Amino acid sequence: MKSSDVILVTGAGGFIGGHLVSHLLSRGFTRVVAVDCKEIQDWYQISPNARTLQRDLRDRDACLEVTEGVDHVFNLAADMGGMGFIETHKAECMLSVLINTHMLMAAREHGVKRFLYTSSACVYNGEKQVRPDVTALREEDAYPAMPEDGYGWEKLFSERMCRHFTEDFGIPTRVVRYHNVYGPNGTYDGGREKAPAAICRKVIEAKLSGRHEIEIWGDGEQTRSFMYIDDCLKGTLALMDSDFGEPINLGSDQLVTINQLVDMVEDIAGIKLERRYKLDAPKGVRGRNSDNTLIKQVLGWAPDIRLEDGLARTYAWIYDQMAGERTFPRELAATGTAD
Ligand code: NAD
Ligand code: GDD
Repeated sequence: MKSSDVILVTGAGGFIGGHLVSHLLSRGFTRVVAVDCKEIQDWYQISPNARTLQRDLRDRDACLEVTEGVDHVFNLAADMGGMGFIETHKAECMLSVLINTHMLMAAREHGVKRFLYTSSACVYNGEKQVRPDVTALREEDAYPAMPEDGYGWEKLFSERMCRHFTEDFGIPTRVVRYHNVYGPNGTYDGGREKAPAAICRKVIEAKLSGRHEIEIWGDGEQTRSFMYIDDCLKGTLALMDSDFGEPINLGSDQLVTINQLVDMVEDIAGIKLERRYKLDAPKGVRGRNSDNTLIKQVLGWAPDIRLEDGLARTYAWIYDQMAGERTFPRELAATGTAD
């Protein structure tokens, strides 16, 4: 990508999209278009230097409008959340297929040079994720297909649409399978939050209220890997700049139990809590980890940020929101921010 190229980020009012716009501006890209369906006052980050638009991208005309004159698309917009949301909103998650369908059609119409789609580890076959000591998932483990119901099916279908738009219409696509991404300036309450932000919020609630207990979904022995936002941005841009057109994992390969995640957040907060386990809460798969063999080979990418360090930064941001005034939308300086 050249700094004078026009770059569109959809889902820019959300967690990863907000960071991506900030990162692109800080790296000298001057023509960034940021689109999201949310009211602009509810975006996590906004910049006077990006062209900021509120549009519902399920609508084909809106997709045609925002892709006009665009060189590169980062298509992040999706109706999504953590397990508490995707297990209970399957139809809504699947409707995101309209976003990617119309965005691909619009990209074709306007001759976009490159189109990146943000898929998910939720595309992987559930039968390969039934044990906490799961074997890390390789890209081929998405087939035979048995993804997460609802959200995962939509992601897998949209991945294949990218593939066939490349094969049949010649649009270069990139497909990244994110494994649980966390960091500041993202959702930490309201039902869409994922485990790292949810656990930070619950520990902070306990600290602020003096009631030293915490509710954990499941028995706490389920496992995941968590990738800090800065690592995610580096990998996403490296993939966009590469010639690699197949779906690829982008995630941490440090497997932890949810109980270990809680231990870490307790250490950051300097408290110990009594744990209550809600066994009938949404749990998702029993274990999930990212096999990073391919991404190391193709992009030379590996995560840099230790979970303890990323959690400390995330905890600090959520603490500020809960203990003081809400600090978003974060208004970026005219040149973006160096973060
Ligand atoms: P997010 O919910 O914070 O951001 C998504 C944004 O898309 C939201 O701001 C939302 O308003 C917007 N959006 C939804 N429907 C829209 C529509 N019809 N038109 C325009 N905008 C719309 O989520 P995120 O964590 O930033 O995730 C970004 C992308 O990465 C998503 O595609 C998600 O599925 C994928 N992903 C994220 C994770 C993760 O752990 N965060 C993991 C796997 C995949
Ligand atoms: N959200 C949440 N909130 N999860 C909790 C909590 C809590 O308070 N307590 C324990 N958990 C457990 C969940 O039950 C689940 O077993 C595990 O923590 C991880 O939950 P999430 O972070 O919500 O989701 P996930 O890792 O199963 O899936 C997420 O990552 C995918 C990519 O790897 C989701 O965000 C998907 O949308 C995403 O694609």
